Amino acid sequence: MSEIIVNGGKKLSGSITVQGAKNSVLPILAGTVLCDGECVINNCPNLSDVETSLKILSQLGCLYQKQDNVVSVNSENVNSNEIPENLMREMRSSVVFLGAIIGRTGKAVISSPGGCELGPRPIDLHLSALQKLGVEIIEEHGFLYCNAKNGLIGTEIHLSFPSVGATENIILAAATAKGVTVIHNAAREPEISDLADFLNSAGARIYGGGSDTVYIHGVKKLHGTVHSIIPDRIAAVTYMACAAVTGSKIELRNIMPSHMVSMLSVYRESGCNIDVTGKSLVIRVPQKLKRIPTIRSQVYPGFPTDAGPIVIAMQSVAEGTTVFVENIFENRFRFVGELNRMGSKIKVENKVAVIEGVNRLSGANCNCTDLRGGAALVVAGLCANGQTVIGEISHILRGYDDIVGTLRSLNADIKIKE
Ligand code: UD1
Repeated sequence: MSEIIVNGGKKLSGSITVQGAKNSVLPILAGTVLCDGECVINNCPNLSDVETSLKILSQLGCLYQKQDNVVSVNSENVNSNEIPENLMREMRSSVVFLGAIIGRTGKAVISSPGGCELGPRPIDLHLSALQKLGVEIIEEHGFLYCNAKNGLIGTEIHLSFPSVGATENIILAAATAKGVTVIHNAAREPEISDLADFLNSAGARIYGGGSDTVYIHGVKKLHGTVHSIIPDRIAAVTYMACAAVTGSKIELRNIMPSHMVSMLSVYRESGCNIDVTGKSLVIRVPQKLKRIPTIRSQVYPGFPTDAGPIVIAMQSVAEGTTVFVENIFENRFRFVGELNRMGSKIKVENKVAVIEGVNRLSGANCNCTDLRGGAALVVAGLCANGQTVIGEISHILRGYDDIVGTLRSLNADIKIKE
């Protein structure tokens, strides 16, 4: 099993181009199922979750090609509406294919996604919305059998919580439904706007994507298109944290500063000096980071839950005590036990982590518990004294495109041991 080996303490320098967004590319790949023609997706990150999505597309009868950061998908010959259990287990977010498959074929069969590293992660909001659109859903033997006997019919949907995945599934299902669908209390994450932009470029009529009310005027058919994935705001702040803990100056290119406002303000509060110019930024970091009294994860435009572990690793070497309150997922803090093996002083109680900054972390053997928790261990390893060996790195590879190569290009002493 591969491991990441980091020798901490090296200053970083240089400039990197930030990858395309994981959380955009997955629903967009699902969206290609709706398109009768070839879709070319540019700025596609190389991630194991993308590989899993391509396997699902192939299973559905779509043809695809992938070269470097360009994926083309041809869905003219979709001939299946089932996602096999092994692929659902590989990637819980495969559930976002549901709306697209039903939209294209009128039916879908998937295995129940169950829980994941971050907690139970229910899909009740996805399912009740699909039912409102006319889908009959039977849950049996761990599978969900979905059937829109009379086709999908546009309707008004009010989400009790602005779930990202549920908003995406509704948009995908409603894009080719009969009539108009309105989503109230929709998620406003930039990845939703990216999905709407992609679908609109393929002939959909979606208005208000990225706001809390989305109007989807169903069209008969979508066609092929060319689309470029937005930059990954979480990958961007991960590399910024790597600079922060090593007191370094680095440049990030291909960022979307307007998507990062809540995170930039937290990094500035910690003492980082950030100069934004167009789609790039330069981060310069003082010798010692400052405490941040309280950070709370919130839905967009609040501070994202995905950036929580990364900022916790960063604040573990700041002066004083930082409090982080996690409001979205139950099991976000599983990585803290691993981080504390490196000498951090973090106490967790329910949804609150209290991070007492220490002078120096020390390299240790630790394992990734989930994607962002794994990235937090990399951040910590870069500033720890001595060597850190990180196991279970498949979690990290789900969401970061060549994190080791990227950090090496910034002069970090890091490698993968196969
Ligand atoms: C997406 C992102 C994930 C990010 C999260 C929040 C992808 C592939 N993943 O996940 O990286 O951390 O948004 O920004 O894009 N909930 C329900 N019932 C539902 C759906 C959700 O109770 O039917 C709850 C969840 O348990 C959780 C909260 O709503 O507590 C947020 O979930 P949601 O916004 O749906 O996140 P995901 O789409 O799963």
